[in-house]
Amino acid sequence: MTATGLLAAIADVGADRTRGGYSRHGFDRVELELREWFVAEAVKRGLSVETDRNGNIWAWWGNPGPDAVITGSHLDSVPGGGAFDGPLGVVSALAAVDVLRAKGFVPRRPIAVVVFVEEEGGRFGVPCLGSRLMTGAIDADKARALVDSDGVSLADAITAAGADPSTLGPDEEALARIGCFVELHVEQGRGLTVAVGVASSILAHGRWRFTFTGEGNHAGATLMGDRRDPMVPAASLVLAARKAAVGGARATVGRIVPIPGGTNVIPSQVDVWLDARAADDATTKSVVAEIQAMARLAASEEGCGVRITQESYGDTVVFDEVLRDDLSTVLGGVPALPTGAGHDAGILASRVPTAMLFVRNPTGVSHAPEEYAEPDDCEAGVAALATTLEHLAA
Ligand code: GLV
Ligand code: MN
Ligand code: MN
Repeated sequence: MTATGLLAAIADVGADRTRGGYSRHGFDRVELELREWFVAEAVKRGLSVETDRNGNIWAWWGNPGPDAVITGSHLDSVPGGGAFDGPLGVVSALAAVDVLRAKGFVPRRPIAVVVFVEEEGGRFGVPCLGSRLMTGAIDADKARALVDSDGVSLADAITAAGADPSTLGPDEEALARIGCFVELHVEQGRGLTVAVGVASSILAHGRWRFTFTGEGNHAGATLMGDRRDPMVPAASLVLAARKAAVGGARATVGRIVPIPGGTNVIPSQVDVWLDARAADDATTKSVVAEIQAMARLAASEEGCGVRITQESYGDTVVFDEVLRDDLSTVLGGVPALPTGAGHDAGILASRVPTAMLFVRNPTGVSHAPEEYAEPDDCEAGVAALATTLEHLAA
């Protein structure tokens, strides 16, 4: 089966009729359907499937064991996301197994296809939740207490999905089996001018929540001079983010929630989420410090309060240079390029040799319904992943 054929099989699952694109989030009905689909595809291929203590799914070709070659990605999306971010890595892994099987390849090392849970943090706010839990990069109690926008905790969502949230936490057994991890992913900028490349690094990045508090009141009866409107410092924060992110740094506000959220109501509270990224830890932290200072000033000028919480953080990732150069050579000298997007591979890179293959994105659009990769490029990605797995597992 081709990668695009497999993507077509899930094209209707989680299609978001309101936002466009796909809304597929950790442990929601849609993601559970995708997980079932993946398990069925794995079983069809004779792979043995297991779900680890954090909800990540592993489909094994050969006995699960040490020194395994792992590939895969995630099936969840951002709200209204594209069809490729995550699923392309999963379907390409299945298609690469098909290619290797068809040519009679017998792996010397075990191979597994992994599906990490809630990579985007689209429901519970923390990106790469499954891989962070596995590596201990997030505390299990803290993770269990995360809530979605309806107030449902991760623990309750896992229970509702029929699993046990008490098992969440570092999984040294799963990590000990990984010899190396290679995640294939659609490229998310316009950095790749050939069909396939390898990743060199990921920006340092994090998410911060700003809770501005003021006085809820009437939009018509409250004189402008009498207001303590938390939407005003929230707006200043958006502009501060644009101003502070210079020289390659990025700062984004993609989510604002006013309470109560009425057109004719001055909100009593506004929550704003900031996503900030830069080449290194010091630059990222200084961009965020500047935005925080501006937000505090704007809040006090409006007579509002502000509470700032860091919800996630990851330092710069430099992928294993030996593995990166090895794969680039095996694939005929494909280019290596950095990325501003986060990945489970970035989390695993702190524990095991890790690499990424990128498939060209002709427009550079991602995290949007228009995200795209040409079918020929997707199949070039499958061929590259099959070559990679054959090279590493032979
Ligand atoms: C995930 O794709 C991210 O970079 O936020
Ligand atoms: Mn993404
Ligand atoms: Mn992704």
